[in-house]
Amino acid sequence: MVYSRITGTGSYLPDRVVTNKDLEKTLDTTDDWIRERTGIKRRHVAADGETTSDMGLTAAYKAIEMAGIEVGDIDLIIVGTSTPDKIFPSTACIMQRKLGIHGCPAFDINAACSGFVYILDIANRMIQTGGAKTALVVGSETMSRIVNWQDRGTAVLFGDGAGAVILQACEKPGVLSTHIHSDGQYENLLEVPQGVSSGFDADRDGGPYIRMNGNAVFRKAVAMLGSASLEILAKNNIDKSEVDWMVPHQANLRIIAAAAKKLDMPMERVIVTVDEQANTSSASIPLALDTAVRDGRIQSGQLLLFGAFGAGFTWGSALVRY
Ligand code: ACO
Repeated sequence: MVYSRITGTGSYLPDRVVTNKDLEKTLDTTDDWIRERTGIKRRHVAADGETTSDMGLTAAYKAIEMAGIEVGDIDLIIVGTSTPDKIFPSTACIMQRKLGIHGCPAFDINAACSGFVYILDIANRMIQTGGAKTALVVGSETMSRIVNWQDRGTAVLFGDGAGAVILQACEKPGVLSTHIHSDGQYENLLEVPQGVSSGFDADRDGGPYIRMNGNAVFRKAVAMLGSASLEILAKNNIDKSEVDWMVPHQANLRIIAAAAKKLDMPMERVIVTVDEQANTSSASIPLALDTAVRDGRIQSGQLLLFGAFGAGFTWGSALVRY
């Protein structure tokens, strides 16, 4: 039996930091309101001209170095993003060119904020069925480009960044189980309501920017994160007390805390980066993972639970022996 294992992690955050105090200058909001309702203190914002593939590439090189592999060993590239550099080619193909490798499959998946759990699921299946041996799996987002910076209901929530893992074939299980779901009936609760086929028009639906029914998304997110986590533990016959670390999608501290409560997981065993990074969509789980691997909290052999939800709605979970 072939399994897949995470052998390297890496991440990248743009240099520019925008604090809540900075946002007070341009929006009718306060640092107190943002902290209390979301747990967010600051976010990173990409420089002019800095792209999703640029950020993903830096994260990828760090993961490659940690895994101790050569760039040429990579035989699969999957990027999770809703903010690609171009309509085509895919951000994964652009990263492949920048890495200087040729021929292996490279493609993007758009599952909004659930992107990382989706691409981990796909990469794991491709490795298990012999389609790849060394996958580069990257979540990277320039959310700042699709945020309406005049809308206080959404502008305070998002940030830019990238996280990457190297997933390699091995005899011992690393990725134990992945579960992904979606339900398109919730399309209008969280969306960027424009696109190539429907057309771009600054005067329609508020333009090509994130629109969200925050309250409804909040309630669904808590329910989905909780049910996805309980589902994966039940299917693997694992008790919640056996999980060493919960590494959830970082949208809002209150959503994370409510999901942790459902699992009786003390916050000391939950990786939280939303305070420093805000919601980086598909980058948030690999960013949180890399942060906790590099600061020594996550240790080899520990059991990790990833959980995500996002526009679609999409949601999912993964259980990983690190
Ligand atoms: N500063 C000050 N006041 C604000 C702000 C702000 N930044 N934003 C909204 N308000 C106001 C509202 O206008 C409202 O005022 P009113 O009572 O006079 O009408 C009041 O604050 C309360 O608004 P609510 O929306 O009820 O506030 P809530 O406690 O629900 O928090 C929030 C809003 C933070 C957006 C919350 O609903 C949330 O986190 N929702 C989930 C967001 C999320 O996780 N999105 C996931 C994205 S995933 C993806 O795929 C991209």
